[in-house]
Amino acid sequence: MPLSSTADLVGRAMGRGHAAAAFNVITLEHAEAIVDAAERVAVPAILQISENAVRYHGGRVLPIARAAAEVARAAAVDVSLHLDHVRDEDLLRQAADAGVSSVMYDAAGLPYAANVEATRRAADWAHERGLWIEAELGRIGGKDGEAPLDAHARGARTDPDQAAAYVAATRVDALAVAVGSSHAMTTRTATLDHALIAKLRDGVGVPLVLHGSSGVPDEELVRAAAGGIVKINMGTALNVAFTSTVRAHLAGDGAVTDPRAYLSLGRAAMADTVAHFLRLLASPGD
Ligand code: G3H
Ligand code: ZN
Repeated sequence: MPLSSTADLVGRAMGRGHAAAAFNVITLEHAEAIVDAAERVAVPAILQISENAVRYHGGRVLPIARAAAEVARAAAVDVSLHLDHVRDEDLLRQAADAGVSSVMYDAAGLPYAANVEATRRAADWAHERGLWIEAELGRIGGKDGEAPLDAHARGARTDPDQAAAYVAATRVDALAVAVGSSHAMTTRTATLDHALIAKLRDGVGVPLVLHGSSGVPDEELVRAAAGGIVKINMGTALNVAFTSTVRAHLAGDGAVTDPRAYLSLGRAAMADTVAHFLRLLASPGD
């Protein structure tokens, strides 16, 4: 089956009043696990490769992106490919060749005016090539290599008036918002600002994206999806499942050498995690 586009999956989710789920791909096993789960529960999924994952692969996007794309093409459900948290403009410009239909350009660390200017340039570039583009306003902390940020700190959240102006000025297709979640949480204890999500939904005019969703409890995710979040980004939860499973296996078998013995278990654990979130977020009939 040909790759789906993120614009289509997000648009369909929005039309049905629920959220599309996007999962981080670091290794081939991640892509296989996500697609396996999506097929099992018959719900579409977005595979996303972050700039940090590209860095892990020696700065080369094509090997992991093309591998993920092949896994997605073989799927019996709709799957799209997305490039996530891109700060490097050189990487952004490789997006068109990497087979992705969408990209998140992350200039959230810049002052507002510089964020607008860089993101507008990225959006113009993306739209000329038919790519859907997401950007971030506010500070969603916890990203790799960054100092920790309190999700509840004054000024960390996305301001609704500024967000509306930002989307109008940059012409992005979706907006990642800081509403209480934080990246890389290994406990599911985040509390979201649902009143702020409602204000952003009513004022911004493009789909809202929740990052750092691994730390958000199930009931909060469901409420956020019902309240205006249209794309839910999940990464750490897969890695927790993978690593804890592999660690337990290696602890119990000091003689194992074939990586397939434990990678297959880690991959299955990630698939179970993905299936749980896809089931949770999908509405009946998907
Ligand atoms: O963009 C990716 C997500 O924000 C993943 O965040 O690893 O905390 O689930 P997470
Ligand atoms: Zn993120």
